[in-house]
Amino acid sequence: MNKTIEQIVSLCKRRGFIFQSSDIYGGFSAVYDYGPLGIELKNNISQLWWKEMTQVHENIVGLDSGILMHPKIWEASGHIGAFNDPLVDCKQCKSRYRADEFSENFKTIKWLEIQCPKCGTTGDLTEPRQFNLMFKTNVGPVEETGTEAFLRPETAQGIYVNYQLVQGSMRMKIPFGIAQIGKAFRNEIVARNFIFRTREFEQMEMQYFVKPGTDDKAMQEWKNKRFNFYHEKLSVSESKLRFHEHKHDELAHYAKEAWDIEYEFPFGWSEIEGIHNRTDFDLTRHQEFSGKNLSYFDQPNNEKYLPYIIETSAGLNRMLLTVLADSYWEDKENNRIVLKLDPRIAPIKAVICPLVKKDGLPEKAREVVDLLKPHYKVIYDQQGSIGKRYYRQDEAGTPFGLTIDHQSIEDNTITVRHRDTQKQERISIDQILRMLKDHI
Ligand code: GAP
Repeated sequence: MNKTIEQIVSLCKRRGFIFQSSDIYGGFSAVYDYGPLGIELKNNISQLWWKEMTQVHENIVGLDSGILMHPKIWEASGHIGAFNDPLVDCKQCKSRYRADEFSENFKTIKWLEIQCPKCGTTGDLTEPRQFNLMFKTNVGPVEETGTEAFLRPETAQGIYVNYQLVQGSMRMKIPFGIAQIGKAFRNEIVARNFIFRTREFEQMEMQYFVKPGTDDKAMQEWKNKRFNFYHEKLSVSESKLRFHEHKHDELAHYAKEAWDIEYEFPFGWSEIEGIHNRTDFDLTRHQEFSGKNLSYFDQPNNEKYLPYIIETSAGLNRMLLTVLADSYWEDKENNRIVLKLDPRIAPIKAVICPLVKKDGLPEKAREVVDLLKPHYKVIYDQQGSIGKRYYRQDEAGTPFGLTIDHQSIEDNTITVRHRDTQKQERISIDQILRMLKDHI
């Protein structure tokens, strides 16, 4: 199927999923706002992830650390020194590029021989300069030395600096994990592809603390678990998922081994989640910079060590874009657009429609809304023809259309219309909640 990112962007705006930030001011680059359906979808995805991590795994607990943290943390983590993108400018048209957009081996490029992709001039591209991606701010009323702080570029560091407090208070035994969902900020030079790369985004990260020597096995386990999550829990097509291993020159400064889970987006294969073996890099550095002993005491074996860390790091917004891209379906035969979202994450689970606005049908439909709304997000719709009402909800990804007609008044039944097949069945209103529970 030929779908473009523009079609997805357009549907997102039309149906209230995602809007460009500051729209009435002409927009604010690389930041997006989530509308009524977008926030429902985002919450459903993040709750699924949270449940998978902190409920299904008894040895993983949650954390919510601050966005602003002690500035020394970013020195220790290496972000002040090494969290850079190589930046190339065109002196002619002032366009700005990431050097690795030209080639992964950009260090060997002779820049004076390269043509600017925008204005076509050759010889005016600068040599790459390193550009730090962290957003700086100041704490307190005056900007002076010592007041500088950073918006976190990853949630991971908040977990590392709290690891001993969490371990001690919850009496966690290695191996154990700490999960966190929260905002991260990066001053991306080239932000593009809708919500794929933005300056403000959300991460869902889990740091798994293991005994050194058991790290390779844990890495393999988490690689499999995370890959399976996408097709088993989010119903993403398995054929559009793959692993990409980071070769030596791609590895981040902290990683011994790293794998990306990639999805085949309309703009090509791209990373949605990274699984990294960070060894004891981060804890060693925080120990050094804070002066605090961060070793773990393994009581039964009477030994002390710094744990190794296996990290699973997913972007919530990218995960959302993945399910949108994967579920977008142009049903040409029936001239409609459908989001074939898994009912578990669909923003609205059912639309309840009286066939006509009279004869007691609206009242009966309201009774069904009242029955379902304590359990699921459902909506009432009496506007327009029944076909139009269904098509509107197909675009919103609503899996079930429930219609009240004259027969409903007589025998307390309702028509259930299934989004993807458009098949209809008649069931007793008493059975509706059970039916939804079976699917969600
Ligand atoms: N703690 C490790 C870490 O942050 P990363 O590969 O830089 O690793 C992890 O980021 C995930 O965060 C990515 O796989 C992606 O899903 C998401 N992410 C990173 N930068 C992003 C951006 N600018 N916009 C949206 N999502 C981003």
